[in-house]
Amino acid sequence: MSTDTHAPFEKQPEKPGGAGDATAPRSTGELIRLERVTKRFGDHTVLDNLDFSVDAGKHVTLIGPSGSGKTTILRLLMTLLKPDEGRITVDGDQLYPAPEKQVREIRKKIGMVFQQFNLFPNMSVLRNITEAPVTVLGMSKDEAEVRARELLEMVGLTDKCDARPTQLSGGQQQRVAIARALAMRPQVLLLDEVTSALDPELVAGVLDVLRDIARSTDITMLCVTHEMNFARDISDQVLMFDSGRVIESGSPEKIFNDPENERTREFLGAVL
Ligand SMILES: Nc1ncnc2c1ncn2[C@@H]1O[C@H](COP(=O)(O)OP(=O)(O)OP(=O)(O)O)[C@@H](O)[C@H]1O
Ligand SMILES: [Mg+2]
Repeated sequence: MSTDTHAPFEKQPEKPGGAGDATAPRSTGELIRLERVTKRFGDHTVLDNLDFSVDAGKHVTLIGPSGSGKTTILRLLMTLLKPDEGRITVDGDQLYPAPEKQVREIRKKIGMVFQQFNLFPNMSVLRNITEAPVTVLGMSKDEAEVRARELLEMVGLTDKCDARPTQLSGGQQQRVAIARALAMRPQVLLLDEVTSALDPELVAGVLDVLRDIARSTDITMLCVTHEMNFARDISDQVLMFDSGRVIESGSPEKIFNDPENERTREFLGAVL
């Protein structure tokens, strides 16, 4: 749908030496904002009056102990969950609270890669990548395939177009999942522990692909990871979570080398 006036999905010129554009015309300034967001499950308050924002083009990493609410934030942004209180805006448009039609439009700006790759098992690798651009964005099949092949080249899997997901290693499946998310030309890519289900020898290949995307595109990334070296490499900002609150935030240098909060020090001491 390259003639569509919906700017976010128009093809952009490749960056020199880049790994495929992967992205859409970019907003500047604040892209994601959570204001006083509270999420409860029963009596359990998982996110407590949470405020934070992510600027366009930035790479923000969420770290913190298990159960601190990191995945819940990504699920709220994916509209897989709704907050109990508060407001979420994406690129200036309200995602919550908002009418369903508006939610669907905003949702197109957000791509997510999960820990479990969630590929469509009955479709080829190529079709996994072209399916949503064709059915959701109305892209022609030919255009979607050209784009899918570019993305497969970017993730180093040009020879796997016709394979089924079950014929791929976990690392290869995850790289297909990354290509599939980028095929929708999202403005923001949400990554939730995308290497934690992988065998150790497959982790580096996936992280290299993500480093490449971070370096060669201007896509905004909001990333949950336990890979602290990766977080240090790609992040503009690191947010330390504990019990549904941001207890410390700053540059990776600051958070990893000189954290102020005792809880951050304790957490990093345990994971590093
Ligand atoms: N659907 C749900 N129903 C009830 N409780 C839930 C649900 N989803 C999450 N929780 C609870 O919310 C809290 C935060 O969960 P969340 O998955 O956001 O943590 P996390 O920081 O991503 O942890 P981890 O590092 O282990 O992935 C946990 O205590 C979890 O048990
Ligand atoms: Mg989680």
